Amino acid sequence: MTEPVLDVHLTPEDAALALRAEARAGLTARPKWLSPKWFYDAVGSELFEDITRLPEYYPTRAEREILVARAAQVARTTGARALVELGSGSSEKTRLLLTALREHGTLEEFVPLDVSPSALTEAARAIVADYEGLRVHGVVGDFTEHLGLLPGAPPRLVAFLGGTIGNLIPEERDKFLTSVRDVLGAGEWLLLGTDLVKDPDVLVRAYDDAQGVTAEFNRNVLRVVDRELGADFDPDDFAHVALWNAEEEWIEMRLRAVRPVRAHVAALGLDVEFAEGEELRTEVSAKFRREGVERELVAAGFELCEWWTDSEGRFALSLARAVG
Ligand code: AVJ
Repeated sequence: MTEPVLDVHLTPEDAALALRAEARAGLTARPKWLSPKWFYDAVGSELFEDITRLPEYYPTRAEREILVARAAQVARTTGARALVELGSGSSEKTRLLLTALREHGTLEEFVPLDVSPSALTEAARAIVADYEGLRVHGVVGDFTEHLGLLPGAPPRLVAFLGGTIGNLIPEERDKFLTSVRDVLGAGEWLLLGTDLVKDPDVLVRAYDDAQGVTAEFNRNVLRVVDRELGADFDPDDFAHVALWNAEEEWIEMRLRAVRPVRAHVAALGLDVEFAEGEELRTEVSAKFRREGVERELVAAGFELCEWWTDSEGRFALSLARAVG
């Protein structure tokens, strides 16, 4: 069996430094914030997998439905020789694309990029084992920073699935899409998953499930800060909040102090206080409309070639081509 190759652009030390810098900025800001990338330690990644199986959390199933229906068409249209997957996590939905590209006969290489070396190694090994002869070249990196040196022979297909682009605010999205466009040559491809604007009750339920799995996922970020930065937050001091911001058209997740909280963050020499009811913003998950997605893609130098939704119109996959 061929071993997967791994390029490391982001070491555990880089990640630790980034978390420190962010925690110092976010925990001393008003309102307080932390970014969602810190959710995904081993426990958080497991909790996210649990979320994808909840009855209320439709995006994963909706996107899978589209991929099942359209993967062969993606393969025919793109003729991709390399599949690059950003924020690949467990790479499960990717298999639909890998299989279709294989059957089409063009695929040579799979390039998963993820911040987590453990998730990446595991996913890369599983893919190597199941796709005889496929080169797997993993990249440990942050998709907002380490796109510069993407391996793979053109035409490449960059897949950014799950609606994770919604974690970026509009300026960050513009920067991100432009950086993807910059590493691609004209005629290479982007497959982008976006959750769509819909009934706010449906959206809020997807981020505040009855079993409380999302609440645990949200509170887990405090466990990450406790472990990585020697802090003494008690996750039980915080309630999970998910709300629809109708102006921005995004879901916000927050942690609300249910009593006055005073915590010490040893690695930063920082004391953090929360008044009762004070909130920490932990995630935005933007929801999209076709016009907005198309406008953002065109602004970054892509042409929107296909727009596919699931049968209930909840989620979309866009296939876009880098223009010359
Ligand atoms: C992995 C970023 C797509 O925004 O829906 C799930 C993360 N947060 N439940 C999303 C998440 C709360 C998820 N993404």
